[in-house]
This record gives sequence, structure tokens and C-alpha cells, in this order.
Amino acid sequence: MAAKLIDGNLLSKQLRSDVARRAAALTAQGRQPGLAVILVGESPASQVYVRNKVKACEDSGIHSVLEKYDADLSEAALLARIDALNHDPKINGLLVQLPLPPHIDTNKVIEAIAADKDVDGFHVNNAGLLMTGQPLFRPCTPYGVMKMLESIDYPVRGANAVVVGASNIVGKPQAMLLLQAGATVTICNSKTRDLASHTRNADILVVATGRRNIVTADMVKPGAVVIDVGMNRDDQGKLCGDVDFANVKEVAGYITPVPGGVGPMTITMLLVNTIEAAERN
Ligand code: GUN
Repeated sequence: MAAKLIDGNLLSKQLRSDVARRAAALTAQGRQPGLAVILVGESPASQVYVRNKVKACEDSGIHSVLEKYDADLSEAALLARIDALNHDPKINGLLVQLPLPPHIDTNKVIEAIAADKDVDGFHVNNAGLLMTGQPLFRPCTPYGVMKMLESIDYPVRGANAVVVGASNIVGKPQAMLLLQAGATVTICNSKTRDLASHTRNADILVVATGRRNIVTADMVKPGAVVIDVGMNRDDQGKLCGDVDFANVKEVAGYITPVPGGVGPMTITMLLVNTIEAAERN
């Protein structure tokens, strides 16, 4: 049996029309939502990500500001820009694209962003609020994954969820959101012994490792929901995820494609977080 696809482009389109409606309502009250994006350095991947974020804002009626700096920008200068944007009333959401050049302390930068403008949800205050069950901003990728599960009416409560990958950006907050929704959650990492023994038990399998084909068909429980957060290139240079899609789709009940799965949802949830920040103001 071939799995059903969870179409991130289609779901994004639906969610973005709601974002546009809410942005227009705020704009009509003279409170157009605003997002500032800071990019330091010339990483081609980061350039694409920030361009897509700014374009998505424009398409949804959200004011956006993109500040690009050379890779040799000092940490002090970056912190000064963050401070200014923290105090800018036109800016409701502020993010610094990661990774940062090695001479800049990433944690220091994240903690400098006002927690109530931290639309990435990376600030320790927001991580703590999420962990204690009172989230302010949910990190965009895991938030998008939860929306995907909602879109198929998946009964998360009581399900076995396995998250492969334990990053601060995806794996850890994903586990928290699934736990909060009532799943029994296992977090696997690069040191996990016998990964397959865990993944085979998953009703919901979220894979976020950055390693192509880390999940193969024999590692998936028949009928499981498989969510692929990976973004890699195959030998032909084509975009692919962390899951062996061609074979896993014959076993899974639902699966997300790459591209067109989680990717568009991440930016969509950034827009949602920006709107939520503006509405709270
Ligand atoms: N780099 C990769 N993903 C992200 C993200 O979600 N936010 C930021 N700020 N940087 C990233």
C-alpha cells in the first residue's frame, strides 16, 4: 500500500490565506505586522532561506526588513542592531539567521533578542515556557509538523512518537510539542544504539538529522506517519530528505515529500508567529 502524501505546499497555502487576512485586519488599524531578518555572511543556503522569508512576508502583507552584513561584522555591532530592533515599534518579530560566523557567540545573540519578538522561539525564556507547557512562540519547524498532524486529524494523544535528532531548533522542541499533545515520546540522537528498534515502534516518526537515507523501509512500522524534516542533496544534486522516500512510502500510512513537505511549513509558521506577536501587542 502506498502512503498518503501530506502536502506542505497545499497546507501552507491555506494557513497563509489566514495570515494574510489577519495581517490586513491589523494594517487597517494602523498596526501592520513587521518582521526583521538579520543575515551575517554569504552562505548561499542562508541567502536563499532569508530571501524566501522576506518574500513570504511581502506576499502576506507583512512589513519586512532584511539587514545583510559581511561575515566580519563584530559581535558588538550585531548586538547593537538587535537592541535597536528590539525597541523599534514597527518590528514585531526579529530573527537572526543561523549559523553565525564562528567569532560570534550564537547563544549570546539569541538571548539578546527580546523574548516577545523571538519568532523563532529559540530564546531560553521561550524554550523554558515551551518546556513548562505555556508556550509563547513555538519554534517554526516543529510547530509546522504539529499542523501537518492536525491536518490529517491524527490522534496524537497516546501515540508512540519517535523523534530522530535532538537539535535545539527541531528535535527537542518537537519532542516537547508532541509530549504536550499527549504522545509518548522517544528522542533518538547520533549515539543511539540500534536506531531501528526505536523507529519500528513509532506511530509518528519525525526525522531531523541532516543525514540522507538514515531511515529505510525496514525501520518503519506499517501505517506509521513519517515526517521528513531533512534537506539534503542526492548524487544527482536533487533535493532530498533524511528518509528513503521511494521505499518508505510503500510501508508508511502517511509521508511528507521533500521538497514540498515540511520546508514550506517552516516559513508559514514564521508568518503565523509574527502575526501572533503583532496581535499580542
Ligand atoms: N537556520 C536554519 N533554520 C533556521 C531557523 O529556523 N531560524 C534561524 N534563525 N536560522 C535557521
